[in-house]
Amino acid sequence: MKVAIGADHGGFALKEELKKALVNLGHDFVDYGTGSELSVDYPDFALPVALAVASGECPKGILVCGTGIGVSIVANKVPGVRAALVHSIQTATLAAEHNDANVLVLGGRLLAGALAAEMVKVWLATPFDQRHQRRVDKISAVEARFLTKKV
Ligand code: RB5
Repeated sequence: MKVAIGADHGGFALKEELKKALVNLGHDFVDYGTGSELSVDYPDFALPVALAVASGECPKGILVCGTGIGVSIVANKVPGVRAALVHSIQTATLAAEHNDANVLVLGGRLLAGALAAEMVKVWLATPFDQRHQRRVDKISAVEARFLTKKV
């Protein structure tokens, strides 16, 4: 699978680790930056990842900032994106199974690389449980209420 990945300076180091993990898992990725630990603004990196997922260019995306909070707020503004900020193997699994999360969000200053890589692995491997489709459809209905322009 082609995975869009992006981070600000607070998530740069973890993003680099996760790129290696994706390769080891046999996935492709598109890196939307940032390219160093120099201070940047997280919306500038969250938006292109969210757009890549919303447009279908990449079926899934991964975003990292210091806490994961800023990039998840930005990504969830983009219709079609369901970005889940997760903190454990269990929440990463449930984000796929219950929420059909198409963007996984991680806190680069909160998580060890090995745990984060495992979270990515289970999220990519866990199928959506159709029993939750009605709720996900209601997320789309909320978006549709406020949608003025398609991506
Ligand atoms: C940047 O210092 C930090 O605010 C950012 O990485 C993130 O944690 C924002 O939510």
